[in-house]
Amino acid sequence: MKFLVTGGAGFIGSNYLHYVVNKYPEDDFICLDALTYAGNYNNIKILEEKPNYKFVKMDIRDKEAVEKLFKKEKFDYIINFAAESHVDNSIKNPNLFAETNIIGTMNLLNAARKMRDEENHPIIRYHQVSTDEVYGDLPLDRPDLLFTEETPIHTSSPYSSSKASADLFVLAYARTFKMPVTISRCSNNYGAYQFPEKLIPVVISKALKNEPIPVYGKGENVRDWIHVHDHNVGVDLIVRKGHNGEVYNLGGHSERTNLEVVKTILKQLGKPESLITYVTDRPGHDLRYAIDSSKSEKELGWERTYNFETGMKETIDWYVNNEEWIESIESGAYKEAYKH
Ligand SMILES: NC(=O)c1ccc[n+]([C@@H]2O[C@H](COP(=O)([O-])OP(=O)(O)OC[C@H]3O[C@@H](n4cnc5c(N)ncnc54)[C@H](O)[C@@H]3O)[C@@H](O)[C@H]2O)c1
Repeated sequence: MKFLVTGGAGFIGSNYLHYVVNKYPEDDFICLDALTYAGNYNNIKILEEKPNYKFVKMDIRDKEAVEKLFKKEKFDYIINFAAESHVDNSIKNPNLFAETNIIGTMNLLNAARKMRDEENHPIIRYHQVSTDEVYGDLPLDRPDLLFTEETPIHTSSPYSSSKASADLFVLAYARTFKMPVTISRCSNNYGAYQFPEKLIPVVISKALKNEPIPVYGKGENVRDWIHVHDHNVGVDLIVRKGHNGEVYNLGGHSERTNLEVVKTILKQLGKPESLITYVTDRPGHDLRYAIDSSKSEKELGWERTYNFETGMKETIDWYVNNEEWIESIESGAYKEAYKH
């Protein structure tokens, strides 16, 4: 079977590719990535040696290029990780989020539909990698409340609005055009290869240099943390065993305040809490996310293998042992990693 994996040079997509390219030698994987600032070819360079893997530099906003690629490759599965993913950037430049996350998604769906209708090659599955942020946020004082797949869409940021819009188009294509689709909505991921703009790698890299660590507001916002590998095992199960037209939640069952996460990192690195610097809160900052994954567990047999403590320890060790990975991003050298 031939798989298209978009956004595979990013954090979650690269971890996914390392997992599936090795697990399924009988399947072929094509990674499509525009290598935006968040795409790091170093994350996937080692996969070049694999016979069942190939990289294509392409932008999902480029409709013609995407359609041409589909016509040539005749994919069986599409897994869309590609997105603008940083909430702060969506506040500065919302339109880019609509272009990549909504129009880019539609370009993939349209190309798959065209391949079916004009080339007589229907896809087996289009999978959209979405986020729990489409559900909005929960109050801090109601720990009993969790997001289920039935929770109404109620977005806060331009990022989550663009992801929710994309989800609605994916579901509309299932209903209107009979496209075989699934959607996963996952909580906050941690693990190796996360771009150092997101909380955990930012805190680790600043702490290692004894620099002040910015924490939004009072650091009280709660996130449900999941190890990226557990997320990707869930995506793989949904892609292969999930039911068409269905949404599946994937959560870490590990709620922590941002301040708790920062303190965990400082403690492991032996750095003082005096490095913490409180900064003006993000506008519209979501208070709490917490996710009920029982549907994925019951229907697909999905299980988490990491708990937060061991997963974080392993993750912090990875960044400490791969300081050159962060340095190449800080110096800009990572942009030269892709040679064609
Ligand atoms: N990081 C999280 O905690 C989290 C949680 C839930 C869901 N998600 C979703 O998972 C997906 C991956 O997230 P991530 O954290 O790995 O993001 P990331 O920013 O690390 O990676 C995104 C990748 O997409 C590529 N990309 C961006 N625009 C593109 C375009 N126009 N054409 C082709 N490629 C493009 C980038 O080059 C990069 O490689 C996203 O869809 C995100 O919404 C992320």
